[in-house]
Amino acid sequence: MALKGTFRPDTIITHAGLDPEANHGIVNPPVYHASTITFPSVAAWDEAHKPDFKGYIYGRYGTPTHRAFGEAVAAVEGGAGCIAFPSGFAAVVGAILAFVKTGDHILMVDSAYFPNRRLCDNFLKNMGIETTYYDPLIGGGIRDLIRPNTKIVYTESPGTGTFEIQDIPAIAEEAHKKGCVVLMDNTWSGGMFFNAFKHGVDVSIQAATKYIVGHSDAMLGTVTANAANLPAVEAGFKALGYSVGPDDVYLGLRGLRTMHVRLRQHQENAIKVANWLESQPEVARVLCPALESFPGHKLWKRDFTGASGLFSVLLKERPKAAVDAFLDTLKIFRMGASWGGYESLALPVSNVLHRSAVPWTEKGALIRLHIGLEDADDLIADLQAGLSKLTQVAKAA
Ligand SMILES: Cc1ncc(COP(=O)(O)O)c(C=O)c1O
Repeated sequence: MALKGTFRPDTIITHAGLDPEANHGIVNPPVYHASTITFPSVAAWDEAHKPDFKGYIYGRYGTPTHRAFGEAVAAVEGGAGCIAFPSGFAAVVGAILAFVKTGDHILMVDSAYFPNRRLCDNFLKNMGIETTYYDPLIGGGIRDLIRPNTKIVYTESPGTGTFEIQDIPAIAEEAHKKGCVVLMDNTWSGGMFFNAFKHGVDVSIQAATKYIVGHSDAMLGTVTANAANLPAVEAGFKALGYSVGPDDVYLGLRGLRTMHVRLRQHQENAIKVANWLESQPEVARVLCPALESFPGHKLWKRDFTGASGLFSVLLKERPKAAVDAFLDTLKIFRMGASWGGYESLALPVSNVLHRSAVPWTEKGALIRLHIGLEDADDLIADLQAGLSKLTQVAKAA
């Protein structure tokens, strides 16, 4: 029997979606590889096509492995249901397309994951769907941007690369007054450090590729929705033909079971490294919501229960060669897209240059760090060596 009752988050994340008795007592669900699912009779086939059918019809619509994963993520996030998508960005696209049609308008946060802009400015624009970008710090002021045809208010908190914390309850309140659906990219919190639904979000999106999978070895996305909006998400998923491989879903489920433990360690290491960076002469600012010096810190403290391992460092203005030397000197931090795995990563952030609602005017290089599960003192020593090299190259320039 699946564990029934009211439990605290660590117990939920450990047990949600499990049903060992349905599988010979084996703790984890099997990985079902399925396309065709057969039916013994016309009556059974007809039954399977009734709207309230609870079984499995076709591999693309999911197997018990997908269902176990979806149930687990929905329980962790506190939503009515969750659907797995083949990547985080597929989840973003699927969630948006579930709610818009030609002639509609989207309010997109200016600090959203950059490919959202490509989606809105090209693909959606060509379909006759208009987007307005808004200041991530707009709060209740979003009311002035909502038009009669605005369908989606899209949020992402903290913002990509720059970590602005949005006042989600204030935004959601105004959006709901005008009948808009509130979407949030909740990847940074793993759905664990921010309860999107309690703060007014209708649809919570995660790049499960990051903290849920947690080991940099699978692409996966999730869309978790409240009861009112789950049917639209399910219909969109089916209409668009998405399908997630069972092995990747299984990796997501496996990663989820330890996400709470990993996230706490990411947090502890990140805060230690961020505090150290703040005291470094080559550093102009550390953009990390958990630091008191960060402008969004109070909002973060009000709404979040923790911080994950991703933040940015704004370096003082130095020649590009010096910044490159900093990155090239790092040994533990490797350069690479994505984040949320156990390993530390560093990457220059350039997409801020595309901001349109609040243009980015800082002159120094912005470096995004993902603080992994290594020893924090080793990470600090690595960064120290990089910053020393930066100073050396800058002086010689
Ligand atoms: C905040 C955020 N959302 C969505 C995505 C997209 O996820 P994926 O790479 O799994 O498509 C990313 C990827 O970096 C991300 O950082």
